[in-house]
Amino acid sequence: MGWYNGGRMPGYTSRMRVVTTVPASGGAPSQLETSLRPELADAGRLARRALRKVVTAARADDRRTVDKALREHLGPAVNGPVVNGSWPSYEHVNVQIALDAWLEDPSRSHELVGLTGFQHRMFGLADLIVPEVHPGMLPGIGNVAMANLPAGPDGQTYSCVQCALYLIVESEQPLALLVRGSDDRGGNENVLVEALTADAETGARVLAELRAMALERNVYRGQVVSFGGQMFGQPGALMTFHSRPTISRDALVLPGGVLEQVEAQVLGVAEHRERLRASGQHLKRGLLLHGPPGTGKTHTARYLMGRLTGVTIVILSGEALHAITLACSVARALTPSLVIIEDVDLIGDDRGMHPGAHPLLFQLLNEMDGLGEDLDIAFLLTTNRADLLERALVQRPGRVDQAVEIPLPEAAERKRLVELYCGRLELDEAGIADVVERSHGVTASFLKELLRRAALLAAQEESSTEGPLRVSGEQLTRALDLLLDDRSRLTRALLGSPGEQPA
Ligand SMILES: Nc1ncnc2c1ncn2[C@@H]1O[C@H](COP(=O)(O)OP(=O)(O)O)[C@@H](O)[C@H]1O
Ligand SMILES: [Mg+2]
Repeated sequence: MGWYNGGRMPGYTSRMRVVTTVPASGGAPSQLETSLRPELADAGRLARRALRKVVTAARADDRRTVDKALREHLGPAVNGPVVNGSWPSYEHVNVQIALDAWLEDPSRSHELVGLTGFQHRMFGLADLIVPEVHPGMLPGIGNVAMANLPAGPDGQTYSCVQCALYLIVESEQPLALLVRGSDDRGGNENVLVEALTADAETGARVLAELRAMALERNVYRGQVVSFGGQMFGQPGALMTFHSRPTISRDALVLPGGVLEQVEAQVLGVAEHRERLRASGQHLKRGLLLHGPPGTGKTHTARYLMGRLTGVTIVILSGEALHAITLACSVARALTPSLVIIEDVDLIGDDRGMHPGAHPLLFQLLNEMDGLGEDLDIAFLLTTNRADLLERALVQRPGRVDQAVEIPLPEAAERKRLVELYCGRLELDEAGIADVVERSHGVTASFLKELLRRAALLAAQEESSTEGPLRVSGEQLTRALDLLLDDRSRLTRALLGSPGEQPA
């Protein structure tokens, strides 16, 4: 669209036409008009054309319009009340699934009527029943606009109505629903369903049934979803599915007791949910993982996600942190659930008119407060900067019941990490002890990178391309030297080695 003209000369259009006009009475016809005046031979054609016009006009009268369709279908109920329901835009797929299931009931039959010209315009069902005012401004009847929306982590989609009328007969009573998806440019952020029924009770009942079915069949239940992550468009408006990570317990190297603590709080409570609830214990819980970057906070969160099959996981990070309220409402609706808020310190400062005020953090704590104690909801917060959060958390005790430090790995953990990230490399045992000794103060992610560097050296220096890569003790030591070298200062800072924080 726009200014594309198919490569032709600017200004030229292939559909340029000469229009004949009837000369104003009295004036002598101009030369142009004379030359274009229809010949006698054209008279028949003109007559036929005139007749066609009359027929078209007559047909236009009984052409189906939205207004007529509604009046015809509803009869006297056309004067009934309109009841509204709205859902956040990411619920569109659930609303459609609910609607389709609801319509399948044998007590109901329906006709789906597509609307045209609905984009970027706000109108309601009531507006469609007053056609005489500005008929040109109202949508017409046309094809049903559909969109395939994500419905699962493996690329599943569900076909959803963008804008249409459902003319429904339910137990011989007519009713109409107007369904609209969100339309940011039209100033409508929500999915809207309007019901026109003979009485308000019916409308309210229909919407309540749809709401219950949308919740019951919610595609996000038991899935891993995140808010935001959209580069363009409405940040945070969208929910994205993720496949559930599977990280084995051995792939997570933490000092003794740390993982057990985390597991008891997050998994243990979930496992003994019923017994705890029965004995009046609260299930809602908050856990803060803190420690230097690259020590495995995110890794631990991913491990827990894998263990919590069937639990709804809602991830919030970066730009989506303002969607805390939405995320909490999803978590509440789809329990048991785990809300993961990564780098929670970032939500503190971004609106930092008052340093340390953490308006979003307080909002989060409020949301956590607002959730029922007996709901099985766990909050897992991670941060590299527990010091920044301390005041806010101390002022609001009881939201985060436990703070667990994920420290830099000691020698024993460093050894396990080297063995873990060695993968299928053949590693000379002699090199390992040296590396473990000399890598005091580095993080897990540093050691992971170290093994890759060593493998790369081996690949570059090995003559055979057959079999597993063999890394000598010398290559491992050399890779460590390279990483520890001054020239790698930035890399070290990025991978999280102490005293090397980027400015
Ligand atoms: N404790 C650990 N055990 C095993 N691997 C780890 C550990 N910590 C970090 N890693 C590795 O380093 C990567 C980055 O760590 P990450 O969990 O993102 O650090 P953090 O969130 O603490 O900054 C992980 O994906 C993982 O491969
Ligand atoms: Mg992290």
